[in-house]
Amino acid sequence: MTKDLEHIPTNEQQDIASLEKMLQAKMNRDYLPPASIQRDAHPKQHGLVKAQFIVEDDLPTQLKIGIFKQPHSYKTWIRFSNQNSDPQVDNVKDIRGMAMKLMGVSGEKLLEEEKHATTHDFILISTPMFVTKNVEQFEKLIAALVSSKLRVLLFFLFHPRALLNLFRSNKNYPNPLAARYWSTTPYRFGDKVVKYSAKPNDNDFGELPKNPADNYLRSALSNYLDNKDISFDFMVQLQKDSKSMPIEDPGKRWSETESPFIKVATIRIPRQKFDSPEQFAYGTSLSFNPWHALPEHLPLGGINRARKVIYQAISKFRHEKNGTKRQEPVDFSPFEETNETA
Ligand code: HEM
Repeated sequence: MTKDLEHIPTNEQQDIASLEKMLQAKMNRDYLPPASIQRDAHPKQHGLVKAQFIVEDDLPTQLKIGIFKQPHSYKTWIRFSNQNSDPQVDNVKDIRGMAMKLMGVSGEKLLEEEKHATTHDFILISTPMFVTKNVEQFEKLIAALVSSKLRVLLFFLFHPRALLNLFRSNKNYPNPLAARYWSTTPYRFGDKVVKYSAKPNDNDFGELPKNPADNYLRSALSNYLDNKDISFDFMVQLQKDSKSMPIEDPGKRWSETESPFIKVATIRIPRQKFDSPEQFAYGTSLSFNPWHALPEHLPLGGINRARKVIYQAISKFRHEKNGTKRQEPVDFSPFEETNETA
C-alpha cells in the first residue's frame, strides 16, 4: 500500500548518504574540542518541559488509530528550540521547533534498533511548509551552505520557491508557546495519510520585547509557566487529493480549506519550573526522531525517508563524540513529577 503512495527517486540513497557525510563534517568543523557537539539542526533549546498528551475520548471510528485508538493520557517531554544550526540570539528571525516524546506507548516501533522503546515522537516546526521539495534539493542546499555565499545565491536563484518558503517561515515570536506548529511532512494514519499540527489555546503573549535579551524566548517560556498552564490542540489534516496534497513535496502547504485540521488530542503543559541545568542537559541528551513511531503512523515521503537514516546517524555521532549515553526515557525520572503530570 505504502509503495503505491511513495515514489522513490533513483538517486535518493546517494543524496541521503551525501547529506549524512556533509552534516558530520560540518559538525566537526562547527564544534572544535573541548566544546561538546550540539545537534546540527535545532541546537538551541529554550526548554524541555513536562506535558500530558491527552487523546480525545469521543473520536470517530476512522480516527481511532494507533496512539489515538482509545482515550489515554501520555506523559510527554516537549523540547522547544530554534532551528538555525548556529545557536544564535533569539531575535534573529528563524523557524522554531516543538519536539514531543510520548512515553508509555506499547507496541513495536518502526526503528529496528529501538523497536522495543516505549516512546513515540511527534516533531513539529513553526511553519506549514518545509524549505525544499525533496531530498535532492535539500542536498543541493546543504552543499551550497557549507560551500560559499555565491553557491547559496545560485541555489536560491534556481529554486525560487525554496527562497519564498524560507522567507515566509523565518519569524520572531514573543514566546515559543505563541507559535502554531506543523509537521510539514505526511504520515500514515492507518489506511489514511495526514499531516500534524499543534495550536496554542492562548493568544495573550504581548508584543515582541523592545530590547530583546539573547535568550528571551527561554525567559518568556519560564515566566509563563511560572504562573499558568497552557494547552495546545493536536490536530490531523487528512489527505483528500494526491495532486493538490502531495506526499513527495513537503514544501507545498496542504490547503486547510480543502481539508481542515481535526482535533484528536489536547497537549497540556502544566505550570512548572523547568530550567534547572540538569533538566536542560537532559533535554540536550534526548534524541527525537520521526521514526520513533508506531507502524500505524509510518512517516511518508522522501524527506522523512532521509530523516530515518540521518537522525539516527547524527544522534549517534554527537553522543559518541561527547561520550554521552543515548537512551529513550520511560517516564519523567530522574526529575520529579508535578501533580498535574503524575
Ligand atoms: C532531509 C531533511 C532533514 C534533515 C537532514 C534534518 C536533520 C536534522 C538533524 C540532524 C537533527 C538533529 C538530530 C539529533 O542530533 O538528534 C534534526 C532535528 C530536528 N528537526 Fe530535522 N531534518 C530534516 C527535516 C526536518 C523536517 C521536515 C522537520 C519538520 C518538522 C524537522 C524538524 C526538526 C526538529 C524540530 C528538530 C529538533 C528535535 C529536537 O528537539 O531534538 N526536520 N533535524
